[in-house]
Amino acid sequence: MIKVLINGCNGRMGKVLAAQIQETDNIEVICGVDKINNNDCSFPVYTNVSSINIIPDVIIDFSIPEATFNILEFAKSNHIPIVIATTGFSNEQLNTIEECSKFIPIFRSANMSYEINLMAKILSELAQKLTDNDIEIIETHHNKKIDSPSGTAILLADSINKSLNNEMHYETMRSSKREKRDKKEIGISSVRGGTEVGKHQVIFFGNNESLEITHNVNSRAVFANGAIKAAFYIVQKENGLYNMNDIC
Ligand SMILES: NC(=O)c1ccc[n+]([C@@H]2O[C@H](COP(=O)([O-])OP(=O)(O)OC[C@H]3O[C@@H](n4cnc5c(N)ncnc54)[C@H](O)[C@@H]3O)[C@@H](O)[C@H]2O)c1
Repeated sequence: MIKVLINGCNGRMGKVLAAQIQETDNIEVICGVDKINNNDCSFPVYTNVSSINIIPDVIIDFSIPEATFNILEFAKSNHIPIVIATTGFSNEQLNTIEECSKFIPIFRSANMSYEINLMAKILSELAQKLTDNDIEIIETHHNKKIDSPSGTAILLADSINKSLNNEMHYETMRSSKREKRDKKEIGISSVRGGTEVGKHQVIFFGNNESLEITHNVNSRAVFANGAIKAAFYIVQKENGLYNMNDIC
């Protein structure tokens, strides 16, 4: 039985994750961490990392970057593998996470869906074939999302960029300029509204035709199940940084 600590256990994803773990064999939640404790969880919830007095086999983190770094310190001191699903990290923070992976196994993905990671692979192949096309990404999320563009939009852009020798740059602020689109740019637009769980459209605009790939998630259970798979995977791993490519 794998014992899990959920960081951000009272958030939208934390709640869905706890429910999905309850439905899954050989894994259980033994405690959670959140700055809010409504006393409605079936496991102990710590509002401060320094008061945790149970050692889990693995940590799953769906929170905010600041909270990720608090729990990462705890994970490092106690040598606990961690699945980081939180998004919105700066490049500097991502480098720190990579540095930490020398001491503990870390699985990080901005999107825990198998299909979105498959989409990333397909996009990298398309980008190599449609080299004259203009690439635009449109991401749509619920009205509570804090970061933009979404971590997934960046994940998809990075996959395309890598296949094009990292020659592209990302444009997220087109409205701040009055100039033509650059051929070497990937435009990323963010839309926020309602309860939309997560939609990502990538469009390759060519001459008089365009090719579009869309991924739509209707339930947070998709991400929760991906995080559970990642937890089973990472619990037996050596120190290092892992991602969905390792399990897809
Ligand atoms: N990787 C993926 O597949 C995936 C999927 C969905 C969401 N996400 C990301 O997961 C994160 C959480 O998403 P959500 O929709 O559950 O957000 P949410 O706002 O509903 O939940 C975040 C939780 O973190 C808690 N929190 C905030 N600051 C804290 C602190 N300092 N210490 C402890 N807890 C703290 C909040 O109280 C809240 O309960 C976001 O970054 C989101 O983008 C990732």
